[in-house]
Amino acid sequence: MKRILLCASVFLSLCQSSLGLGFATPSTDLPPLSVAEAESYQHNHSGIFIPPHIVHVTTGVYSAVGYALGNMILVEANNAVIIIDTTETAEDGWIAYQALRNASQNYHPLVAIIITHFHTDHYGGTFRLLEDAEERGWSVNLYTHSTTVAEQKRLDQVAVLGVARAARQFGQVLLPEIERINVGIGYSYKQANSILNQTLNPTHVYDDRQFFKE
Ligand SMILES: *[C@@H]1O[C@H](CO)[C@@H](O)[C@H](O)[C@H]1NC(C)=O
Ligand SMILES: *[C@@H]1O[C@H](CO)[C@@H](O)[C@H](O)[C@H]1NC(C)=O
Ligand SMILES: *[C@@H]1O[C@H](CO)[C@@H](O)[C@H](O)[C@H]1NC(C)=O
Repeated sequence: MKRILLCASVFLSLCQSSLGLGFATPSTDLPPLSVAEAESYQHNHSGIFIPPHIVHVTTGVYSAVGYALGNMILVEANNAVIIIDTTETAEDGWIAYQALRNASQNYHPLVAIIITHFHTDHYGGTFRLLEDAEERGWSVNLYTHSTTVAEQKRLDQVAVLGVARAARQFGQVLLPEIERINVGIGYSYKQANSILNQTLNPTHVYDDRQFFKE
């Protein structure tokens, strides 16, 4: 038994070192940044998100960056529009959506929303977009992975602890005026209690990879 455990632990450390799965810091020849350099670097990094703006990725594809933690993406289709991810709040998602519509100048109906995964910053604005579509008489397909709804419900159950942990990990709890510069993947995360327990109701789910054909 001991030998098996030993083998397992040797195997694990081999995996960790060769596949980068462990806690070892990747080796680098660059000298570490001083505190002042790191701060300067982080302030510069905030420029990616501030002010919020639309990136024209390629023909017919626009990304709303900096409106919330998560980006929202608009894809122009034949006489239709597809949205990928909806940010973490109804309010910011709505502004991002309008900015995307303005940028694309495409007022065709929204026909599909694709939610990439169950983290709140990727689906929080969905309900607001669906409400608007319904008022306009547009029928919207909601696509997501088959595990998303269950994972979303699980996340709702642990939201208080999960958000507290993520807040520390991302530095979200630091006061923006004094210490917080950004939260790495965005300027800030706006906690959206309003979307907890509002379950997504996908019209289409898929397993593994899904390829969309024209
Ligand atoms: C931040 O940007 C300024 C202005 O472009 C530049 O002078 C400075 O070197 C940058 N800081 C870092 C750490 O890259
Ligand atoms: C979209 O365009 C309208 C009309 O030009 C403007 O009033 C509105 O502020 C714009 N909205 C966003 C979010 O950019
Ligand atoms: C969501 O549901 C959980 C479990 O029923 C409950 O404890 C929590 O208060 C609810 N959250 C909100 C924002 O309604």
